[in-house]
Amino acid sequence: METVTPMSQSAELIGKIKDHSARIGVVGLGYVGLPFLVEKAKVGFHVTGIDRNENRAGMVARGENYIGDVQDDDLREVVRRGLVTTTTNFETVADLDVIVICVPTPLDINLSPDLSYVRHVTEEIGRYLRPGQLVSLESTTYPGTTEEIMKPLLEKSGLKAGQDFFLAHSPERVDPGNARYTTKNTNKVVGGNDPASLEVALAFYKQTIEHVVAVSSAKAAEMVKVYENTFRAVNIALANEIALLCDRMEINVWEVLDAAFTKPFGIMPFYPGPGVGGHCIPLDPHYLEWKAREYNFQTHFIALAGETNRKMPEFVVEKAARVLNQVRKPLNGSKVLLLGMAYKSDLDDYRESPAIEVYRLLERTGAEVSFHDSWTPKVYEHGLTITGVELTEEAVTGADLVIITTRHSDVDYQWVVEKAQIVLDTRYATRGIMSEKVTLL
Ligand SMILES: NC(=O)c1ccc[n+]([C@@H]2O[C@H](COP(=O)([O-])OP(=O)(O)OC[C@H]3O[C@@H](n4cnc5c(N)ncnc54)[C@H](O)[C@@H]3O)[C@@H](O)[C@H]2O)c1
Repeated sequence: METVTPMSQSAELIGKIKDHSARIGVVGLGYVGLPFLVEKAKVGFHVTGIDRNENRAGMVARGENYIGDVQDDDLREVVRRGLVTTTTNFETVADLDVIVICVPTPLDINLSPDLSYVRHVTEEIGRYLRPGQLVSLESTTYPGTTEEIMKPLLEKSGLKAGQDFFLAHSPERVDPGNARYTTKNTNKVVGGNDPASLEVALAFYKQTIEHVVAVSSAKAAEMVKVYENTFRAVNIALANEIALLCDRMEINVWEVLDAAFTKPFGIMPFYPGPGVGGHCIPLDPHYLEWKAREYNFQTHFIALAGETNRKMPEFVVEKAARVLNQVRKPLNGSKVLLLGMAYKSDLDDYRESPAIEVYRLLERTGAEVSFHDSWTPKVYEHGLTITGVELTEEAVTGADLVIITTRHSDVDYQWVVEKAQIVLDTRYATRGIMSEKVTLL
């Protein structure tokens, strides 16, 4: 009887990947999964999207887009060509050759990693796993997840990683809303559980990504991603700390940063603001912090950055009180209009957005708070549902204070400043607008 060696398994799968006959599965059709699915289908792979959200699965199957980084026409076209199938059911895994996991990796209420999504989908995949498949985790997580959590769950099938099936981690680096760097032209890091897994995963990612960077293990790839996001969190925290000091010293922090960033080397632009948001920067460093404790290691920079960034909404409210004080108004009873709920510019994502915390803290002072954000006209979070208002002249002039919490390109800030009584700008959206009505963060 002919024995199946890992070499022949991997060679067969690599062959299918190279001629694009491999069937690809993407688990989780969100900000990461849907652009990924479209990129793979665009080069001719047949892709199956698996999402437990029936509505999302249905929309993708009909070619209806709901993710800003995906071009409507691109999705419609790959659906029209019959390259996309969607399901809520994991039975389809048995028919796939490559399964990529893009499910959420949040924190629980104690800031500990919540890997329940990764565990659940891994268990489901394990039930239908067959020899010759590649499973790759794209979700951001602490170093060790692929080897320590996923591998044993998948091996419950009786199959061995690196021998019967292949296992890798390749962290998604997509920057939602970034028009220059997309899934396709952002370098991709890949780490395998073993050399055969790395070889297969590299072949897979090279099909649609311009530059693929191999590292020696899945653990190293996991560390790369959490390091990158920790780097951002720490540098934003430093900018925030300088902003707090500049406030005390009556120095314009924005002028200082603009000037500092003219240095052509040794510095990178990071800006202060009302805090950090999204599914990455506020969460990922805590994954590493949590894992470090297992090694009796304290990640001081992460703790300090988290603390500094989390304090920013309070500082915004304190500054709002100061600004109103100058016109002899208390926050209590004042009408405050927040411009922006999304965590960053020109995006409909308000997960962990610091604007929500600013909103809550202001309400607690007794202020009458409203918000406008054409990208997120309704916000549902932690049991709170708030509906935004239109950006009318009445809304702006009627507010005792307008606070710019997100800079969106569809807002005419010159007009806002003209109509507003006073403005607190936490994002330097009023750059170049000379008015005594404006106070910067
Ligand atoms: N959003 C970003 O900017 C970004 C960037 C890089 C990496 N990441 C990482 O990628 C991962 C996914 O993030 P996202 O922003 O795409 O999340 P998302 O919430 O936009 O999408 C996740 C999708 O997974 C689906 N899902 C959840 N549980 C499931 C299950 N058991 N079975 C099938 N589908 C399930 C959800 O319905 C949802 O459609 C996270 O680990 C995140 O940290 C996110």
